Amino acid sequence: MRKLNVVDDITYNKETDQSVSKITPNFQPLWAIPFGYTNFGESLRNLNKQLIADIETEKENNPTEKRTFTKNNSGWQSALRMEEKYKSFEELRKIILQYSLGTLYMSGISKDMYINVGNLWANMIFAKGGWSNPHTHGSGDTIWSGVYYPKGVTEVENLDEFISEEYLTYGINKTGGSLLIKDLNISKKIITVKLDHEHYYGTNFSVIPRESLLVLFPAWVEHMVTPTTDDSKRYSISFGIVRKTNSIHDDGSITVLDNLIKQQDNITIEKV
Ligand SMILES: [Fe+2]
Repeated sequence: MRKLNVVDDITYNKETDQSVSKITPNFQPLWAIPFGYTNFGESLRNLNKQLIADIETEKENNPTEKRTFTKNNSGWQSALRMEEKYKSFEELRKIILQYSLGTLYMSGISKDMYINVGNLWANMIFAKGGWSNPHTHGSGDTIWSGVYYPKGVTEVENLDEFISEEYLTYGINKTGGSLLIKDLNISKKIITVKLDHEHYYGTNFSVIPRESLLVLFPAWVEHMVTPTTDDSKRYSISFGIVRKTNSIHDDGSITVLDNLIKQQDNITIEKV
């Protein structure tokens, strides 16, 4: 099998030039931004309906929290810890935990860490022009975050059929209400050259909301939502993936603390 980090042989011909037959240039990305996604497809269609019903109920009875989606009058955000209030959110919380651990481990986080998911909250855009200010999620014990979509921008007949390239793309796509994930290393913009792909020089990655799609990224990854272009409702659910720290007692026994209890502040840190 061909090694992925061996550079394509396009500059010289090994067959005719025996002197370089054993020389292979190599290519290695140094620091990638880890990103995970899962399509739950039809398996969560019923849960999605319940989540939306519960978000509507919550919005009916509660004013918006003043965070990233409320820079104009087109958006609403719930309070944190919706999983303590609604069974649907608790069910989703467990699913997110189950399906996020593998992604975190892939990124290099030790399997020895105690990880939990919590602090679920809902975001709704209900009028044209709703958007979310660029921000990161959490601080301290929050290590990863992400978004779950109980509804997409278009209705999909069979949610099990998922072509990732239609929803996850480099650059800024033109679909209003897209999630934009940012690479803040803007120094790379000094290179202005025609590119075949943006894997290494791009600074934007777009996610078009799709029903049953979960996306995951580290807490330090800045992101935003582009303005919606019509009055259709956009629902999303955000959450924190937190490490649990240990409290070591005098007798040597260890209590694993649930840090979700103190995750009140700085759930989003806005950038502008
Ligand atoms: Fe966010």
